Amino acid sequence: MKYRNAELAETLRDIARGNGLMVFLTGAGVSAESGIPTFRGEEGYWVVGSRNYAPTEMATRAMFQRHPEAVWQWYLYRRTLCNRAEPNAGHQALVRMERLLEDRFLLITQNVDGLHQRTGNTPGRTFPIHGDINTMRCSRECSRDTYPIPGSIGDMDRTSPLHEAARQALVCPACGHPARPHVLWFDECYDEVHYHFESSLRAGERAALLVTAGTSGATNLPVQVGSLAAHRGIPMVDVNPDANPFSRLAENEGGFFCQGKSGDVLPWMAEVLAEGSE
Ligand code: OAD
Repeated sequence: MKYRNAELAETLRDIARGNGLMVFLTGAGVSAESGIPTFRGEEGYWVVGSRNYAPTEMATRAMFQRHPEAVWQWYLYRRTLCNRAEPNAGHQALVRMERLLEDRFLLITQNVDGLHQRTGNTPGRTFPIHGDINTMRCSRECSRDTYPIPGSIGDMDRTSPLHEAARQALVCPACGHPARPHVLWFDECYDEVHYHFESSLRAGERAALLVTAGTSGATNLPVQVGSLAAHRGIPMVDVNPDANPFSRLAENEGGFFCQGKSGDVLPWMAEVLAEGSE
Protein backbone atom coordinates (compact mmCIF):
# COMPACT_ATOMS: atom_id res chain seq x y z
CA MET A 1 0.00 0.00 0.00
CA LYS A 2 1.17 3.49 -0.90
CA TYR A 3 1.45 4.75 2.65
CA ARG A 4 3.65 1.89 3.87
CA ASN A 5 6.84 3.80 3.24
CA ALA A 6 10.14 2.20 4.37
CA GLU A 7 11.77 5.54 5.13
CA LEU A 8 8.79 6.62 7.24
CA ALA A 9 8.85 3.26 9.07
CA GLU A 10 12.49 3.94 9.97
CA THR A 11 11.58 7.43 11.25
CA LEU A 12 8.84 5.85 13.40
CA ARG A 13 11.21 3.20 14.75
CA ASP A 14 13.62 5.96 15.71
CA ILE A 15 10.85 7.63 17.74
CA ALA A 16 9.96 4.25 19.25
CA ARG A 17 13.57 3.80 20.41
CA GLY A 18 13.09 6.78 22.68
CA ASN A 19 14.03 9.72 20.53
CA GLY A 20 11.75 12.70 20.94
CA LEU A 21 8.17 13.88 21.16
CA MET A 22 5.59 12.72 18.59
CA VAL A 23 2.84 15.29 18.05
CA PHE A 24 -0.42 14.40 16.29
CA LEU A 25 -2.78 17.05 14.96
CA THR A 26 -6.20 15.69 14.02
CA GLY A 27 -9.23 17.06 12.22
CA ALA A 28 -12.75 16.01 11.28
CA GLY A 29 -11.51 13.40 8.78
CA VAL A 30 -10.39 11.18 11.68
CA SER A 31 -14.01 10.93 12.83
CA ALA A 32 -15.45 10.55 9.30
CA GLU A 33 -15.22 6.75 9.52
CA SER A 34 -17.31 6.98 12.72
CA GLY A 35 -20.08 8.61 10.67
CA ILE A 36 -19.63 12.21 11.85
CA PRO A 37 -19.80 14.69 8.95
CA THR A 38 -16.66 16.72 8.24
CA PHE A 39 -16.96 20.49 7.71
CA ARG A 40 -15.90 20.99 4.13
CA GLY A 41 -16.78 17.62 2.56
CA GLU A 42 -19.82 17.14 0.29
CA GLU A 43 -22.10 16.44 3.26
CA GLY A 44 -20.06 18.73 5.50
CA TYR A 45 -21.50 21.05 8.14
CA TRP A 46 -20.24 24.15 6.36
CA VAL A 47 -21.77 22.94 3.10
CA VAL A 48 -25.14 21.63 4.25
CA GLY A 49 -25.53 24.06 7.15
CA SER A 50 -28.50 24.42 9.46
CA ARG A 51 -32.10 24.58 8.37
CA ASN A 52 -32.44 28.36 8.38
CA TYR A 53 -29.04 29.98 8.36
CA ALA A 54 -25.89 29.99 6.25
CA PRO A 55 -23.58 27.27 7.56
CA THR A 56 -20.63 29.22 8.90
CA GLU A 57 -22.95 31.90 10.33
CA MET A 58 -24.11 29.40 12.95
CA ALA A 59 -20.66 29.18 14.48
CA THR A 60 -20.34 32.81 15.53
CA ARG A 61 -20.74 34.72 18.75
CA ALA A 62 -22.76 37.29 16.79
CA MET A 63 -25.34 34.64 15.87
CA PHE A 64 -25.47 33.39 19.47
CA GLN A 65 -26.20 36.92 20.65
CA ARG A 66 -29.04 37.31 18.14
CA HIS A 67 -30.50 33.79 18.15
CA PRO A 68 -29.18 31.78 21.12
CA GLU A 69 -31.86 29.11 20.80
CA ALA A 70 -31.13 28.43 17.13
CA VAL A 71 -27.43 28.12 17.88
CA TRP A 72 -28.04 25.80 20.84
CA GLN A 73 -30.43 23.71 18.75
CA TRP A 74 -27.76 23.24 16.10
CA TYR A 75 -25.04 22.31 18.63
CA LEU A 76 -27.33 19.96 20.54
CA TYR A 77 -28.20 18.19 17.28
CA ARG A 78 -24.48 17.85 16.45
CA ARG A 79 -23.81 16.70 20.03
CA THR A 80 -26.40 13.96 19.57
CA LEU A 81 -24.62 12.70 16.43
CA CYS A 82 -21.25 12.78 18.21
CA ASN A 83 -22.52 10.91 21.25
CA ARG A 84 -24.13 8.21 19.10
CA ALA A 85 -20.91 7.65 17.14
CA GLU A 86 -18.43 4.92 18.02
CA PRO A 87 -14.64 5.33 17.85
CA ASN A 88 -12.98 3.85 14.75
CA ALA A 89 -9.65 2.13 14.11
CA GLY A 90 -7.87 5.49 13.77
CA HIS A 91 -8.97 6.58 17.26
CA GLN A 92 -7.92 3.22 18.67
CA ALA A 93 -4.49 3.46 17.04
CA LEU A 94 -3.94 6.86 18.66
CA VAL A 95 -4.64 5.35 22.08
CA ARG A 96 -2.25 2.50 21.35
CA MET A 97 0.46 5.01 20.37
CA GLU A 98 -0.09 7.07 23.53
CA ARG A 99 0.29 3.94 25.65
CA LEU A 100 3.55 3.09 23.86
CA LEU A 101 5.06 6.57 24.01
CA GLU A 102 3.50 7.92 27.22
CA ASP A 103 4.99 11.41 27.86
CA ARG A 104 6.50 11.50 24.40
CA PHE A 105 3.00 11.57 22.88
CA LEU A 106 0.83 14.65 22.40
CA LEU A 107 -2.48 14.98 20.59
CA ILE A 108 -3.79 18.34 19.36
CA THR A 109 -7.30 17.92 18.04
CA GLN A 110 -9.69 20.26 16.28
CA ASN A 111 -12.50 17.80 16.91
CA VAL A 112 -15.13 18.73 19.47
CA ASP A 113 -16.73 15.27 19.40
CA GLY A 114 -14.77 13.89 22.39
CA LEU A 115 -14.07 10.60 20.58
CA HIS A 116 -10.32 10.66 21.25
CA GLN A 117 -10.96 11.09 24.97
CA ARG A 118 -13.76 8.51 25.00
CA THR A 119 -11.45 5.98 23.31
CA GLY A 120 -8.80 6.48 25.98
CA ASN A 121 -6.43 9.33 25.09
CA THR A 122 -5.70 11.04 28.40
CA PRO A 123 -6.78 14.66 29.13
CA GLY A 124 -3.22 15.72 30.08
CA ARG A 125 -1.89 14.75 26.65
CA THR A 126 -4.94 15.80 24.58
CA PHE A 127 -5.53 19.43 23.61
CA PRO A 128 -9.04 19.97 22.20
CA ILE A 129 -8.20 23.32 20.61
CA HIS A 130 -11.72 24.02 19.33
CA GLY A 131 -13.53 23.06 22.54
CA ASP A 132 -15.88 20.23 23.44
CA ILE A 133 -19.46 19.73 22.25
CA ASN A 134 -20.47 18.17 25.58
CA THR A 135 -19.41 21.21 27.59
CA MET A 136 -20.83 24.69 28.23
CA ARG A 137 -19.66 27.82 29.99
CA CYS A 138 -21.05 31.19 31.09
CA SER A 139 -21.87 33.43 28.11
CA ARG A 140 -21.17 36.48 30.32
CA GLU A 141 -17.81 35.03 31.41
CA CYS A 142 -18.53 35.29 35.13
CA SER A 143 -15.69 32.75 35.47
CA ARG A 144 -13.52 30.60 33.23
CA ASP A 145 -15.17 27.42 34.51
CA THR A 146 -16.68 24.91 32.13
CA TYR A 147 -19.53 22.53 32.93
CA PRO A 148 -20.87 19.30 31.39
CA ILE A 149 -24.07 19.87 29.41
CA PRO A 150 -26.74 18.42 31.69
CA GLY A 151 -27.71 14.86 30.74
CA SER A 152 -31.39 15.79 31.28
CA ILE A 153 -31.33 17.57 27.90
CA GLY A 154 -31.26 14.27 26.02
CA ASP A 155 -30.99 13.71 22.28
CA MET A 156 -32.09 16.33 19.76
CA ASP A 157 -32.77 15.80 16.08
CA ARG A 158 -32.05 18.33 13.38
CA THR A 159 -35.37 20.09 13.70
CA SER A 160 -36.13 19.66 17.43
CA PRO A 161 -36.98 23.02 18.98
CA LEU A 162 -35.38 23.68 22.35
CA HIS A 163 -37.72 22.23 25.01
CA GLU A 164 -38.46 24.00 28.28
CA ALA A 165 -36.27 21.65 30.35
CA ALA A 166 -33.32 22.45 28.06
CA ARG A 167 -33.96 26.18 28.33
CA GLN A 168 -33.82 25.90 32.10
CA ALA A 169 -30.74 23.68 32.13
CA LEU A 170 -28.61 25.73 29.74
CA VAL A 171 -27.66 28.37 32.29
CA CYS A 172 -24.42 29.07 34.11
CA PRO A 173 -24.56 27.13 37.40
CA ALA A 174 -22.56 29.91 39.11
CA CYS A 175 -24.51 33.05 38.16
CA GLY A 176 -27.67 31.87 36.40
CA HIS A 177 -27.01 33.78 33.16
CA PRO A 178 -27.37 31.95 29.83
CA ALA A 179 -24.72 29.32 29.13
CA ARG A 180 -23.04 28.96 25.72
CA PRO A 181 -21.46 25.98 23.98
CA HIS A 182 -17.78 25.60 24.91
CA VAL A 183 -16.58 25.80 21.31
CA LEU A 184 -14.43 28.30 19.44
CA TRP A 185 -16.46 30.47 17.05
CA PHE A 186 -15.32 32.16 13.85
CA ASP A 187 -15.46 35.66 15.33
CA GLU A 188 -13.38 34.67 18.38
CA CYS A 189 -9.68 34.11 19.02
CA TYR A 190 -7.72 31.19 20.36
CA ASP A 191 -6.47 31.52 23.95
CA GLU A 192 -4.62 29.30 26.39
CA VAL A 193 -7.21 28.99 29.09
CA HIS A 194 -9.94 27.51 26.92
CA TYR A 195 -8.14 26.35 23.78
CA HIS A 196 -4.50 25.45 24.65
CA PHE A 197 -3.12 28.11 22.31
CA GLU A 198 0.39 28.62 23.73
CA SER A 199 0.73 24.96 24.73
CA SER A 200 0.03 23.90 21.14
CA LEU A 201 2.64 26.30 19.78
CA ARG A 202 5.14 24.97 22.32
CA ALA A 203 4.34 21.45 21.12
CA GLY A 204 5.20 22.58 17.57
CA GLU A 205 8.51 23.90 18.93
CA ARG A 206 9.33 20.68 20.81
CA ALA A 207 8.09 18.02 18.39
CA ALA A 208 10.55 15.55 16.87
CA LEU A 209 7.87 14.36 14.44
CA LEU A 210 4.53 15.99 13.49
CA VAL A 211 1.69 13.89 12.10
CA THR A 212 -1.35 15.72 10.73
CA ALA A 213 -4.40 13.54 10.04
CA GLY A 214 -7.85 14.19 8.60
CA THR A 215 -7.63 17.95 8.34
CA SER A 216 -7.89 20.37 5.44
CA GLY A 217 -5.52 22.86 7.10
CA ALA A 218 -8.06 25.68 7.07
CA THR A 219 -7.69 27.03 10.62
CA ASN A 220 -5.08 29.28 12.10
CA LEU A 221 -3.50 27.42 15.03
CA PRO A 222 -2.94 24.14 13.15
CA VAL A 223 -1.36 26.11 10.30
CA GLN A 224 0.95 27.83 12.80
CA VAL A 225 1.94 24.50 14.38
CA GLY A 226 2.68 23.12 10.89
CA SER A 227 4.75 26.19 9.97
CA LEU A 228 6.77 25.94 13.19
CA ALA A 229 7.54 22.30 12.49
CA ALA A 230 8.48 23.08 8.88
CA HIS A 231 10.70 25.95 9.99
CA ARG A 232 12.54 23.64 12.38
CA GLY A 233 13.03 21.07 9.65
CA ILE A 234 11.58 18.14 11.62
CA PRO A 235 9.97 15.25 9.71
CA MET A 236 6.28 15.77 8.94
CA VAL A 237 3.66 13.22 7.94
CA ASP A 238 0.21 13.94 6.54
CA VAL A 239 -2.56 11.32 6.56
CA ASN A 240 -5.48 12.09 4.25
CA PRO A 241 -7.19 10.47 1.24
CA ASP A 242 -6.80 13.80 -0.62
CA ALA A 243 -3.94 16.20 -1.19
CA ASN A 244 -4.25 19.33 0.99
CA PRO A 245 -2.05 22.15 2.36
CA PHE A 246 -0.49 19.84 5.00
CA SER A 247 0.35 17.11 2.49
CA ARG A 248 2.02 19.73 0.29
CA LEU A 249 3.91 21.17 3.26
CA ALA A 250 5.10 17.70 4.33
CA GLU A 251 6.19 16.80 0.81
CA ASN A 252 7.94 20.14 0.24
CA GLU A 253 9.88 19.65 3.46
CA GLY A 254 11.06 16.14 2.62
CA GLY A 255 8.34 14.52 4.76
CA PHE A 256 5.65 12.01 3.86
CA PHE A 257 2.13 12.12 2.44
CA CYS A 258 0.40 8.92 3.57
CA GLN A 259 -2.49 8.98 1.14
CA GLY A 260 -5.31 6.97 2.67
CA LYS A 261 -7.94 6.88 5.38
CA SER A 262 -6.82 7.48 8.94
CA GLY A 263 -8.58 4.25 9.94
CA ASP A 264 -6.08 2.39 7.74
CA VAL A 265 -2.91 4.47 8.05
CA LEU A 266 -2.85 5.18 11.81
CA PRO A 267 -3.12 1.46 12.80
CA TRP A 268 -0.17 0.75 10.49
CA MET A 269 1.84 3.50 12.16
CA ALA A 270 0.93 2.13 15.61
CA GLU A 271 2.04 -1.34 14.55
CA VAL A 272 5.43 -0.07 13.31
CA LEU A 273 5.92 1.88 16.56
CA ALA A 274 4.98 -1.18 18.64
CA GLU A 275 7.47 -3.39 16.73
CA GLY A 276 10.12 -0.69 17.13
CA SER A 277 9.67 -0.51 20.89
CA GLU A 278 10.01 -4.28 21.46
P1 OAD B 1 -12.53 19.71 7.09
O1 OAD B 1 -13.93 19.30 6.82
O2 OAD B 1 -12.11 21.08 6.64
O3 OAD B 1 -11.52 18.67 6.44
C1 OAD B 1 -11.64 17.29 6.66
C2 OAD B 1 -10.45 16.60 6.02
O4 OAD B 1 -10.53 15.22 6.31
C3 OAD B 1 -10.40 16.74 4.48
O5 OAD B 1 -9.08 17.12 4.11
C4 OAD B 1 -10.73 15.32 3.99
O6 OAD B 1 -10.04 15.01 2.79
C5 OAD B 1 -10.20 14.50 5.15
N1 OAD B 1 -10.81 13.15 5.28
C6 OAD B 1 -12.05 12.72 4.94
N2 OAD B 1 -12.21 11.43 5.26
C7 OAD B 1 -11.05 11.02 5.84
C8 OAD B 1 -10.60 9.78 6.40
N3 OAD B 1 -11.36 8.69 6.43
N4 OAD B 1 -9.34 9.73 6.89
C9 OAD B 1 -8.54 10.83 6.88
N5 OAD B 1 -8.91 12.01 6.37
C10 OAD B 1 -10.15 12.11 5.86
O7 OAD B 1 -12.29 19.52 8.68
P2 OAD B 1 -11.14 20.13 9.60
O8 OAD B 1 -9.85 20.27 8.88
O9 OAD B 1 -11.15 19.37 10.87
O10 OAD B 1 -13.51 24.64 13.41
O11 OAD B 1 -11.71 21.57 9.88
C11 OAD B 1 -11.00 22.39 10.76
C12 OAD B 1 -11.92 23.29 11.50
O12 OAD B 1 -12.69 24.06 10.57
C13 OAD B 1 -12.95 22.60 12.35
O13 OAD B 1 -12.47 22.20 13.62
C14 OAD B 1 -14.00 23.64 12.49
C15 OAD B 1 -14.03 24.20 11.07
O14 OAD B 1 -14.37 25.52 10.96
C16 OAD B 1 -14.34 25.26 14.25
O15 OAD B 1 -15.54 25.05 14.26
C17 OAD B 1 -13.67 26.25 15.15
